[in-house]
Amino acid sequence: MIDPTINTDRAGEDFIADFTSLSRIGATPGGGVHRLAGTVEDGQLRAWLRNWLESRDFTVTIDAVGNMFGLIEWTPNAPYVLVGSHLDSQPMAGRFDGAYGVLAAAHAAVRVRRNVTATGQTPPFNLAVVNWFNEEGARFQPSMMGSSVFTGKLSAEHVLAITDPDGVSVEQALTALGYRGTDAAPETAAYAEIHIEQGRHLEKDGVSIGLVDATWAAHKYSAVVRGEQSHTGSTVMADRRDALVGASRLVVALRDLADTFADSALHTSVGQLFALPNSPVVVASEVRMVLDLRSADAEVLAEADARLHEHVAVIEKRDGVHIELTQAHFWGVQSYQPEGIDLARAVAGELGLSSQTMMTLAGHDSTNLKDVVPTVMLFVPSVDGISHNEGELTHDDDARAGVDMLTEVLARMCQGALQDAVLQHAAPAQVAQR
Ligand code: GLV
Ligand code: MN
Ligand code: MN
Repeated sequence: MIDPTINTDRAGEDFIADFTSLSRIGATPGGGVHRLAGTVEDGQLRAWLRNWLESRDFTVTIDAVGNMFGLIEWTPNAPYVLVGSHLDSQPMAGRFDGAYGVLAAAHAAVRVRRNVTATGQTPPFNLAVVNWFNEEGARFQPSMMGSSVFTGKLSAEHVLAITDPDGVSVEQALTALGYRGTDAAPETAAYAEIHIEQGRHLEKDGVSIGLVDATWAAHKYSAVVRGEQSHTGSTVMADRRDALVGASRLVVALRDLADTFADSALHTSVGQLFALPNSPVVVASEVRMVLDLRSADAEVLAEADARLHEHVAVIEKRDGVHIELTQAHFWGVQSYQPEGIDLARAVAGELGLSSQTMMTLAGHDSTNLKDVVPTVMLFVPSVDGISHNEGELTHDDDARAGVDMLTEVLARMCQGALQDAVLQHAAPAQVAQR
């Protein structure tokens, strides 16, 4: 184990101070952050991270889709153990989702390097801190964009052409910020990520560290509801083909669908909706929306998906609209490598931290990385499970314990602890090329 005097790092006070400092960028009056991918605030935080890394002698590189890497090289030409998460946020979001994991990774990397210097034990792998571009998928869809390109699930060319609702492309946004990079992505041996749980399990059970063993499955659809534009006053009711009415019924049908499965086995929502032409005196001609269905049980999700399509047919008939569903982002119930879970469990035990295995309900960049390299995904507790909300909170002690945990896991991964782990999922999760 790493010498605790090296791991301690002034009991994590430096980490908390740095986290306070980065949380000022894009801060909202309600105590959260607003840093959508590729915006000025994202650029400011990227500059903050670049400065942090370069002032500690990391070499910073940027790939074609804005993924940022902070490299520490011990062994020329050896592959890298990557550790990181994402700095972008949802609108009016919490401070911890993603940014906690990037800063924890940066601090863990510095501690591991200090230990390597102190012991003289040069690891067989190099080490890189990573900030993945656009994990959230708030401004540009799909989510987990940078890591999807990195793992070969989407092409850079395709992603660079994706536009936000104002018609600004990923390429334009990254170029404007100076983050449309040309560096090659580092060759990768393994990946580690730490993130807030975004649920209540760890807090309820009084456990410090979640060891993620599998993902919930997700079906995200882009839906277009088409009706006919007309006058809200003069058009007789029988003649109306109101896209907003059809869309509203779809929102409610999806919500009710979740209630037909016991024990919260299905989670559903519509989080985004654009009505056209969106004028008070015009019956809407078109509504675009995103449907999100998730379950830990593939059969439940398949059943829910079939019932969703039945609802669509009923709504089309009843409201005289046409509804087009396009698969936007699907992933399955998939496991992480057991070798990584065993490694993390052993480390938690040695550090005196309680741990438990659990699934992740949210998607993460590790959801992509685990398909191509051995991957460890760790959680720290979230207060009241609040997330994608300014009230998101993880207590300082839990945040510090997570950095200690990540440091030790990373040190062992750099020494080759997961070299023999077997990949579970050769087939990439499906990301639609819309
Ligand atoms: C994350 O991107 C999610 O969809 O959970
Ligand atoms: Mn996240
Ligand atoms: Mn998020």
